[in-house]
Amino acid sequence: MPTPLLDVRSPEAARLAIVRAAEVLRGGGLVSFPTETVYGLGANALDPEAVARIFVAKGRPSNNPLIVHVTTLEEAHELVAAWPDEADLLARFWPGPLTLVLPRSPMVPDIITAGGPTVAVRIPATPLARELIRAAGVPLAAPSANRSGNVSPTRAEHVLAELDGRIDLILDGGPTTGGIESTVVAVSRGSVRLLRPGLVSLAEMEALVGPIARTREVNATGALPSPGMLTRHYAPRTPLELIEGAPWLRLTELLKPGVRIILVVRQADLPTALPPLEHGWGPEIEVMPDAVNDYAARLYAVLHECDERDVNRIVAQMPPETDDWLAVRDRLRRAAAPG
Ligand code: TXA
Ligand code: MG
Repeated sequence: MPTPLLDVRSPEAARLAIVRAAEVLRGGGLVSFPTETVYGLGANALDPEAVARIFVAKGRPSNNPLIVHVTTLEEAHELVAAWPDEADLLARFWPGPLTLVLPRSPMVPDIITAGGPTVAVRIPATPLARELIRAAGVPLAAPSANRSGNVSPTRAEHVLAELDGRIDLILDGGPTTGGIESTVVAVSRGSVRLLRPGLVSLAEMEALVGPIARTREVNATGALPSPGMLTRHYAPRTPLELIEGAPWLRLTELLKPGVRIILVVRQADLPTALPPLEHGWGPEIEVMPDAVNDYAARLYAVLHECDERDVNRIVAQMPPETDDWLAVRDRLRRAAAPG
């Protein structure tokens, strides 16, 4: 059966849609909803059978644990067995794009944690997401609403293209503002470790909790130490090649008659990025914003669009190798890693 898509961009429409979605969730069904990062695929986190449906719909390996979404600190506390001071400090980013990994309480089903001793929790910033959780009356397990390994959805249409007929309902709140997934950190007394860079930067967190254990930037041979975090993730179907510095030499090698290439490049890098146009053909150009948050907001939409345009290859000029670009560089590397 095709999956219905409900527009929730007006308050009246949202109210009706939330009532219906909450019913689906309480009945053990799957609902995709927008958050400030990407669209999530929600199920009642306390119902192992409902959560199992998430893994089936996504084709997700069962060793990859899920984030539990709640609306208040009290609800987060219930899911967690030990709450160090560092968690209180980092919870100042809530509601927001930060996920805390903490010791789990007995209330959390094994299927959420992949059998591990910790649980990932976050309070999403999008009011609609919190209203949905409140209406359902239970915490919601929600991974990104894509087939496992594919690019995360930043629009309801992306969810529909990936999961039509496999889930019960999609709430369409328009494009998400953040564009990439939340930052994930493991928190214990006296130590905070970065598991996945994201929209909350290291600098912002370190200002509150001091030095955070850094994992080296993900590359083709190393992945972040989060269970089930495959190196290749967030990948478009079209081959993606990453270039540090000006890409034009590589482009002159790749460009041949009949070969379509999209160059993804920041506005600031454009003047030095282009090959001499002596052959009379060149790449199609996708100009990206210079500011990191704007770049992140566009990234997955651009990868989705590149797949739709059916080109032979995407070439992306890497943004600067600085801390503020850590999350964007991480997602680009994952998207380009060999499958
Ligand atoms: O922005 C986001 O975080 C989105 C929205 C929907 O909230 N969700 C999301 O979920 O990106 P997902 O499942 O695609 O990514 C969750 C990441 C995975 O890499 C998973 O391995 C890690 O968090 N994770 C979940 N529970 C964990 C745990 N107990 N310990 C370590 N890593 C964990
Ligand atoms: Mg995901």
